[in-house]
Amino acid sequence: MPSYHPSVDVPAFKHAMGRLAGAVSVITVGTGQARTGFTATSVSSFSIDPPTILVSLNKASSSWAAVLDAGSFAVNILANGQSDVADRFAGRGGIKGNDRYVGWDWDRLGSGTLGLAGAVSVIDCDLDEAIERHSHAILLGRVRSVETSTDVSPLLYWHGSYQNLAGV
Ligand SMILES: Cc1cc2nc3c(=O)[nH]c(=O)nc-3n(C[C@H](O)[C@H](O)[C@H](O)COP(=O)(O)O)c2cc1C
Repeated sequence: MPSYHPSVDVPAFKHAMGRLAGAVSVITVGTGQARTGFTATSVSSFSIDPPTILVSLNKASSSWAAVLDAGSFAVNILANGQSDVADRFAGRGGIKGNDRYVGWDWDRLGSGTLGLAGAVSVIDCDLDEAIERHSHAILLGRVRSVETSTDVSPLLYWHGSYQNLAGV
């Protein structure tokens, strides 16, 4: 039995979700030579009490084993102008692991994970739970610290390309 409804039009679903404008984040994972990370639009606030953030991660990503091993991750909400960072952490250009961090300034966070200088916000988290479902896992991150820049507009992704907020 297929894991989705047999009548569903998968390209139509992808097309529809491509119209869901979203902020772009880089999820940094790991310490030392074990560092890696991925670009994500599937980030949302999960709960306020306790402060918890949700990220969906494809288990085929190198970050899956790394986040289970590290037990922590950081959400870096990208600023307009940081699309090069998004491309690098999406694996474009074939750069892997720790080398993805080269070329930008990073701050060491309490968990040992790195936070991106100039990002809209950097949210350091302990991994609270990883819920596996189909190809992906829902990462629930218990927030341990938050930093937010002032007067920085976000990088957005819509209809297959990076965008910025009109009028900002
Ligand atoms: C705009 C954009 C949004 C993405 N959002 C997600 C996401 O929410 N979850 C995810 O697992 N992968 C997402 N990806 C893909 C991952 O960034 C990519 O598969 C990952 O970096 C590959 O990592 P690896 O080379 O370390 O395996 C997104 C890619 C782009 C360009």
